[in-house]
Amino acid sequence: MSDKELTKLPGFRDFPPEDFARRSYIQGAWRRVAQRYGFQEYDGPPLESLDLYVEKSGDEIVGQLYNFVDKGDRDVALRPEMTPSLARILAKRSRGMSKPIKWFSMPQLFRYERAQRGRLREHFQWNVDIIGESSVAADAEVLAIAIDGLRELGLTDKDFAARVSDRRLLTALLLGIGVREENLGATFGVIDKIERLPAEKAEQLLVEEAGLENTEIEALKSLLSSTRIDDVTREFGDDSRVAEELHRFRQYTDMLESMGLGDFVELDLRIVRGLAYYTGIVFELFDRKRDLRAICGGGRYDRLLELVGGDPQPAVGFGMGDVVLGELLKEMNLVPEYERSLDYFLVAVSGEEYPAALRLAHQLRDQGHSVAYGLRQQGVTKQMKAAAREGANTVLIIGPDELANGTVLVRDMTSGEQREVQRQEFE
Ligand code: HAM
Repeated sequence: MSDKELTKLPGFRDFPPEDFARRSYIQGAWRRVAQRYGFQEYDGPPLESLDLYVEKSGDEIVGQLYNFVDKGDRDVALRPEMTPSLARILAKRSRGMSKPIKWFSMPQLFRYERAQRGRLREHFQWNVDIIGESSVAADAEVLAIAIDGLRELGLTDKDFAARVSDRRLLTALLLGIGVREENLGATFGVIDKIERLPAEKAEQLLVEEAGLENTEIEALKSLLSSTRIDDVTREFGDDSRVAEELHRFRQYTDMLESMGLGDFVELDLRIVRGLAYYTGIVFELFDRKRDLRAICGGGRYDRLLELVGGDPQPAVGFGMGDVVLGELLKEMNLVPEYERSLDYFLVAVSGEEYPAALRLAHQLRDQGHSVAYGLRQQGVTKQMKAAAREGANTVLIIGPDELANGTVLVRDMTSGEQREVQRQEFE
């Protein structure tokens, strides 16, 4: 045998049962919430052609791709996000489908990132998307699902908030303060990074990369610090394009208010989202303490289906990762203790009762109960310990007397009470 230690790759996780239970707990909540909103579950392949991501996802994700040439000389990549696959799946298929299409998925995704707190090289991501509906109600519905996904896990408006913005509104505002059309893209790029940059560096980039003048930078700073739609309206609402965008944005936040979710929602024009395909309202969910990276991000992307060769379709959705969320749940003590559980454990006192125990065990399994027993002959004490280890609620004991009488001793593991019952009663 080789003495080389086989370790797992950095940024990847094993899921022994305790960790798998945590993952299932989160995914169970996600699935329940999506179904509660009438969404259907789908999936796609984990490996896609490289072309699907180049240009559509944006430079950041393309730089993080796990890509290679397969044995058939195809350029392929492990999926780093689900949205391009969804667009590809629906590109042609959506034509004959009634709208809106409301789909969700929980794929494992792969990004070659520097592994750090909240960032790994694989993660599971809850994707919820509405295709074929341009109304702002679809944007509100999608954010409500993201918020409810976290509420379902016990988090409240004290723990997290959604920072929302709109690329169309920001475009109108930037044009309004004098940013030239050709500088919009670069300005968005700097805004996307602005929170992670020292103030001087941000200003330098706004001048050098985005070509902004000092007066524009001052106006931009005031814009980005606005947290209330009323303030933006007062300051910039005279511009008719801005007013139009503000009207839609207000409808959006009013709907969330009507749903009782207003306390979770904050205007933040610094949210533009790094991915290339967003076209409208965008949002990210963060922990209130701002210790962690974004838990979730999403928005409207009305051009993506067209970009992958399909019919133009309005679309809006989000991705919520399990890594940052897992950190937050742990911090808030919201992860349930892992416990094994079993309906019955059968104890055969000696080898003689083993056939009767097997028979009873399989009758109970056929009835849908979870049942286990020792897989080798051991003393009763050891078998009882095994029953406790497996989390048995009830232990069924068959000894020589019970074997002869057609009975079984039923021991309730919580109360310790024991009674003798005819084995037939379990049939
Ligand atoms: P994203 O912002 O790239 O969006 O990812 C969404 C969430 O996935 C992030 O907020 C984060 O919680 C999690 N995530 C991303 N990368 C990693 C990583 N390396 N390790 C751990 N967690 C990670 C998208 O992927 C869009 N496709 C979402 C979307 C769906 N937009 C519309 N529909």
